[in-house]
Amino acid sequence: MSVPPARLAASSLPLLLVWLQLQLLLASACDRCVRHSKAAYYTSALTLAGGSCGYGTDAASFSAGFLAAASPALYRAGVGCGACFQVRCKDKKLCGAAGARVVVTDRARTNRTDLVLSSTAFAAMARPGMAPRLAARRAVDVEYKRVPCEYKHRNLSVRVEERSHAAAPAPGDLAIRFLYQGGQTDIVAVDVAQVGSSNWRFMTRDDGPAWSTRQAPPGPLQLRVVVTGGYDGKWVWADREVLPRWRRAGEVYDTGVQITDVAQEGCFPCDTHEWEEE
Ligand SMILES: *[C@@H]1O[C@H](CO)[C@@H](O)[C@H](O)[C@H]1NC(C)=O
Ligand SMILES: *[C@@H]1O[C@H](CO)[C@@H](O)[C@H](O)[C@H]1NC(C)=O
Repeated sequence: MSVPPARLAASSLPLLLVWLQLQLLLASACDRCVRHSKAAYYTSALTLAGGSCGYGTDAASFSAGFLAAASPALYRAGVGCGACFQVRCKDKKLCGAAGARVVVTDRARTNRTDLVLSSTAFAAMARPGMAPRLAARRAVDVEYKRVPCEYKHRNLSVRVEERSHAAAPAPGDLAIRFLYQGGQTDIVAVDVAQVGSSNWRFMTRDDGPAWSTRQAPPGPLQLRVVVTGGYDGKWVWADREVLPRWRRAGEVYDTGVQITDVAQEGCFPCDTHEWEEE
């Protein structure tokens, strides 16, 4: 390199720092970081379906109704909606090694436990015959890790939402909520275009899995989203008609794509083995 040292320092210091941080991250990059906390449960199944992620009754079709409310740190102001976690209780007498796989549909109103599970998911952590004894404890010590969501019979889908805050709905108003997001990623950007057009317009996140725009083009629409996969972003294209010209609020539309990517986190040690029953 023939760049004078002074110039090199001035121009590439920020880049160098980013590079160093990336190296540190790579050294500890992991797709299964295990965390330790407590988990409680809701006695009412309605609580989580009507949770703040806004999935409503569609939540019942996620993960056999194994749902969870997440603490503020996991909920991440709604970005954590739809994330899947495998959670198991640490009491080996009461609980199996595989635990339960849950989907986040709500924000927990407590900091005392990282997860508040649906009662069915809480019971599913128990060894055979131990569910009543487990349920008698209101909260248990658990370990959990984020895992890829698997929707074998569903593609990534969007539900068209009513725009309640729009005083007078304009023709370009479009509000959608993502359902059945597979893999272990966050959706960080969403664009919409008329089918066959490359004039993409961005949507903004309203809350959690809900995105909207006031500039949707007319006609049938295609979508593309950016997800965090690996160490950075990746485009996922649904370059066919996803939303018809005459779309109906409340209707769920299939994007025809499945997301299977896994985003990396930093932690040490990394848990690489599957949690299964012995
Ligand atoms: C949880 O902790 C955060 C940060 O310490 C705090 O701002 C928030 O009010 C707490 N929430 C509850 C429900 O206790
Ligand atoms: C998912 O999308 C593909 C097309 O990409 C389609 O063939 C398949 O039927 C869809 N699956 C479901 C469950 O709708």
